Amino acid sequence: MKADIPEHLPDIWGDEESLVRVFTNLIGNATKFTPEGGNIMVGVQPNSHYITVRISDTGYGIPSDKLSLLFEPFFKVNGQNERGSGSGLGLTFCKKIMESHQGDITVMSKEGEGTTFVLEFPVQMHTEEAS
Ligand SMILES: Nc1ncnc2c1ncn2[C@@H]1O[C@H](COP(=O)(O)OP(=O)(O)OP(=O)(O)O)[C@@H](O)[C@H]1O
Ligand SMILES: [Mg+2]
Repeated sequence: MKADIPEHLPDIWGDEESLVRVFTNLIGNATKFTPEGGNIMVGVQPNSHYITVRISDTGYGIPSDKLSLLFEPFFKVNGQNERGSGSGLGLTFCKKIMESHQGDITVMSKEGEGTTFVLEFPVQMHTEEAS
């Protein structure tokens, strides 16, 4: 796994256990759905409004007609025959958790090429310092 994470990043305020769950699921999925010899990359880019995290893999990818169903409870691209174990709930929780942190999660994927999940966390405004 490759990581490109700047040393100094703004703080994110949130529920640690929930946010760890988001990362555990996304990195776990990337691992589960990438064959041996593939790559998994985590990149973090801050700007003044958002911290953007990209978790990419060079795995099996997701057919474009399935992308809109991905965050639905129990959805698995290949149904019960899906690779590895899993309930199909991980991404549903990721979406809920990101929304409850005023953030967002989106996905880009190409079948046979790989998948990228993008997380956006709002940067805390230090308004009390300005006043
Ligand atoms: N990185 C990925 N590459 C290819 N397919 C993916 C990827 N991430 C998710 N998927 C597809 O989306 C489905 C739903 O993912 P989700 O994390 O919600 O469930 P799961 O990993 O199957 O089970 P759980 O997370 O509940 O243990 C997966 O079963 C898989 O079909
Ligand atoms: Mg999962």
